[in-house]
Amino acid sequence: MVSAIVAVSPDWGIGDGKGMLYRLPGDLKYFRQVTMGHPVIMGRKTLDSFPGGKPLPGRENIVLTRDKAYAKEGVTVVHSVAALRRLLSARPEEHFFVIGGGEIYQKLLPDCDTCYVTMVETEAPIEASVFFPDLRKKHSWKMSCVSEPHTEESGAVYRFTIWEKQ
Ligand SMILES: NC(=O)c1ccc[n+]([C@@H]2O[C@H](COP(=O)([O-])OP(=O)(O)OC[C@H]3O[C@@H](n4cnc5c(N)ncnc54)[C@H](OP(=O)(O)O)[C@@H]3O)[C@@H](O)[C@H]2O)c1
Repeated sequence: MVSAIVAVSPDWGIGDGKGMLYRLPGDLKYFRQVTMGHPVIMGRKTLDSFPGGKPLPGRENIVLTRDKAYAKEGVTVVHSVAALRRLLSARPEEHFFVIGGGEIYQKLLPDCDTCYVTMVETEAPIEASVFFPDLRKKHSWKMSCVSEPHTEESGAVYRFTIWEKQ
């Protein structure tokens, strides 16, 4: 099974190219709970955006890059979407999570069955340049679950939602 997990602004912005748009400790905790123990798939730029560029603990970190010389401790490197799909089909019993960023979400959304979308209702404090596909505009995706609103100390309000491919 393949899922995506993402936090989006009201216009489905996800980042400015260097980092995320919001600081949401409650969402980071949720992300950790949902993905812990499962392999996570990301683009090289998203790994670079983590503190110290270090992989996430307790999860296999699968990183897409076209750089054949790329190597990092604790990282499984994959050089194409086709190679990633071969890896996914060789391990059908596992639940993989696509964790970003924009390029990788766009390329792998067709492979996903479920999207865990944290929908932030507050305008982002910085302007987004990277976006997640707006699932409200896709007939093949329906929201199946929505939480009560959560409010961070910063005042940011968001809901955890789950979307299923029809
Ligand atoms: N809000 C959220 O939930 C969330 C989650 C994750 C990330 N983000 C944000 O998203 C932004 C980063 O996204 P991004 O779109 O700039 O970058 P990205 O998707 O993280 O990574 C792009 C990189 O992936 C590699 N890649 C892409 N397609 C490939 C392919 N077909 N085969 C092999 N490698 C491939 C390339 O690496 P090489 O250049 O090394 O070849 C490319 O430069 C940041 O602002 C980050 O904070 C937000």
